Amino acid sequence: MSHIRSRFDKPPDELVVKYTSSLQYDWRLYSYDIRGSIAHARMLAKQGIITSDDAAQIEKGLALVAEEIEKGVFQFKPEQEDIHMAIEARLFELIGDPAGKLHTGRSRNDQVALDFRLYIKEAVSQTLSSIRMLQKTLIAMAEANKAVVMPGYTHLQLAQPVLLAHHLLAYFEMLERDYGRFKDCYKRADVLPLGSGSLAGVTFNINRRFLAEELGFSEISHNSMDAVADRDFAIEYISAAAVCMMHLSRLAEEIIMWSSAEFKFIELDDAYSTGSSLMPQKKNPDVAELGRGKTGRVYGNLMSMLTTMKGLPLTYNRDLQEDKERVFDTVDTLVPSLQVFSGMLDTLRFKPENMKNALDRGFILATDLADYLVNKGEAFRNAHGIIARLVNYAVKNNKTLDTMSLDEYRQFSPLFANDVKKITMESSVAARNVPGGTSPGQVELALKRAKEIACNR
Ligand code: ARG
Repeated sequence: MSHIRSRFDKPPDELVVKYTSSLQYDWRLYSYDIRGSIAHARMLAKQGIITSDDAAQIEKGLALVAEEIEKGVFQFKPEQEDIHMAIEARLFELIGDPAGKLHTGRSRNDQVALDFRLYIKEAVSQTLSSIRMLQKTLIAMAEANKAVVMPGYTHLQLAQPVLLAHHLLAYFEMLERDYGRFKDCYKRADVLPLGSGSLAGVTFNINRRFLAEELGFSEISHNSMDAVADRDFAIEYISAAAVCMMHLSRLAEEIIMWSSAEFKFIELDDAYSTGSSLMPQKKNPDVAELGRGKTGRVYGNLMSMLTTMKGLPLTYNRDLQEDKERVFDTVDTLVPSLQVFSGMLDTLRFKPENMKNALDRGFILATDLADYLVNKGEAFRNAHGIIARLVNYAVKNNKTLDTMSLDEYRQFSPLFANDVKKITMESSVAARNVPGGTSPGQVELALKRAKEIACNR
């Protein structure tokens, strides 16, 4: 925009124009910018700062600009630094002089903070519903596989039997915490910065409450300097996204393992699998792998944003322009990841028979045997030692807990009786009947709670 250059004797160097422009990505803020400007114009008229005729012309002109952008006929000129300048310049071409009154009592500093907050608020809403969608998928999977027992692992070694539904609902819980983090982030984004001016506030009798209401903000900012310098809300979005991607990445890792020939716990649907350009037999879990891989870029965005902010003196500094791409990339990564994971999970098939085989391979009921002895009066630490020796014996003699005779058991403790053979995968799971445990009754309660959360809140 030419007026911005009036202070100078010559135009900016071509490289400078290129280097400083953000238009190629911040055009995405156009609808928020226009919404903000319309509200601002209405407020200026309401306060008698501009005439209502000017405001009406501005509003009409901005609607035209929006239409042009949506139709793809808007001319984005690289010499316009950013979307705010581009829109204002076009408004001037369309309606002339009244366009020059729009920026009364406003600075690009509070304007860009406003646009970005509006953007984040919408991004959070989209993120929240994508999280819910994935949670509902997990609930449906858990519901459909209520009776399936699978190995639970620690150190990726067979540990104790668990219900598949319990395993799936663990991810529901992680996502529920993510949901809470994004809701929290929304609260802090939901603060109107407009009215802060460049940094110190504005001299006109503006009405910030009216602006907040027009634009759907719950609060107005309390310090103009903070309001134009603050990007915590963006950092909070990316940081919540980083944690959420970490959860998806752990899930992805399990999907990848479970679909390997070594596990074969699941079969991915063809629509969510990819082939190999060389090996004709391959059915690869690329969707899960990319989810795992993209987690790295979101972490990168978080690091980038934190680093950009760390040395900035108050208030606005141009460094802040670097915030947009990091946030856009994060939203563009997280939301589709949540969505595609939902589809991938929804369509995969479990192979309970292979889970059962895996259960039988180790000594997964060893803890239950120790607990058995405790119930017969043995102290837990002693019981632990007894079963450890028993397992050692079984391994050396190529036996399993199943194939050992009662006499063999009794070599390790006289407390063993016939009922030791009643310990099964199912009894093991059922015995863990504590709140949060894997017994069918507890998992039923967990499912009920999950459904209440995902469907009502
Ligand atoms: N494009 C800028 C940004 O994204 C807008 C604010 C510019 N303000 C300024 N004083 N140069 O941060």
